Amino acid sequence: MAEEFSGDWLDLREPFDAAARNPGLAEELMAFLDEKARPRFLDLGAGTGSLTRWLGHFVARPHSWVLADADAELMSRAFDTMMDAAYEIGWKATWPQKKALLVHSPQGAWRIEGILANVATPATLPLDSVDAVVCSALCDLVSERWLLELAKLLARRKLPFYATLNVTGRERFTPPLPGDALVARGFARDQRRDKGFGGMALGPAAPEAIARIFGEHGYRVMKAPSPWIVPRQEDEMARELALGHAEAALAHEKREAWKIEHWAEVRAEQAEAGALSVRVDHQDVLCLPG
Ligand SMILES: C[S@@+](CC[C@H](N)C(=O)[O-])C[C@H]1O[C@@H](n2cnc3c(N)ncnc32)[C@H](O)[C@@H]1O
Repeated sequence: MAEEFSGDWLDLREPFDAAARNPGLAEELMAFLDEKARPRFLDLGAGTGSLTRWLGHFVARPHSWVLADADAELMSRAFDTMMDAAYEIGWKATWPQKKALLVHSPQGAWRIEGILANVATPATLPLDSVDAVVCSALCDLVSERWLLELAKLLARRKLPFYATLNVTGRERFTPPLPGDALVARGFARDQRRDKGFGGMALGPAAPEAIARIFGEHGYRVMKAPSPWIVPRQEDEMARELALGHAEAALAHEKREAWKIEHWAEVRAEQAEAGALSVRVDHQDVLCLPG
């Protein structure tokens, strides 16, 4: 079963995701796709389409997207958000056929199609009709076996793989509190739980595993930092991050539940008072076929 995510949470984090992703690696991917007149992207675990709305601006010519996700509610929200985002910047969005949305940018249309699919089996992905496979905040959920299978399939087709926002396990809530280590330990245990990709989730091991596995398949691998920096005035994001960490930790540190609950209460109060800042480190990884 696919791990579930709330659309409100994905919306809240979208501006932090956009500020965090490393533009240098996006430019490298665009340089690789330079000869494609109309590049086609497959976004795995696309959620509400946050990566498409960010990366599409780098393409600067007509191009197309297939958004793949198992969650029908997120998929429908992705298209609503895509249309709203287009209108907000003065672009039109139309549905000339039922199958795909066209977002009319001044540099050409973005054709966006959605497929409701469980992406846990790479062999079932539509890899023969795309030029690049991309994802955002997905690879911490997947298993090593899934990555191996994906790398094999992409190498055979000489397709690039661009995985943004992979957690590294380095996180800091400021100011420090006595329960920080306990919450961090429980959260780290939760990140390795099986998340429906055929084995233990990679969690913070994802950036290293992507680099190693794609490197072994002949890929040139580039990595770059993409941290979430949440200043004190971003109280809602700081609060949600603290509560999310506490909830995940509670599932694994049951004997110390009261300490985690107390930590969450204090963190929520700090956030509401504009006194909590957070940094969550990520790495973006771009793998280009040799
Ligand atoms: C952390 S969210 C990231 C969403 C989006 N890429 C973003 O950056 O905002 C992970 C996404 O993966 C999707 N997902 C998780 N497991 C999946 C699976 N087995 N098949 C398809 N989608 C899956 C979830 O529905 C969710 O949209």
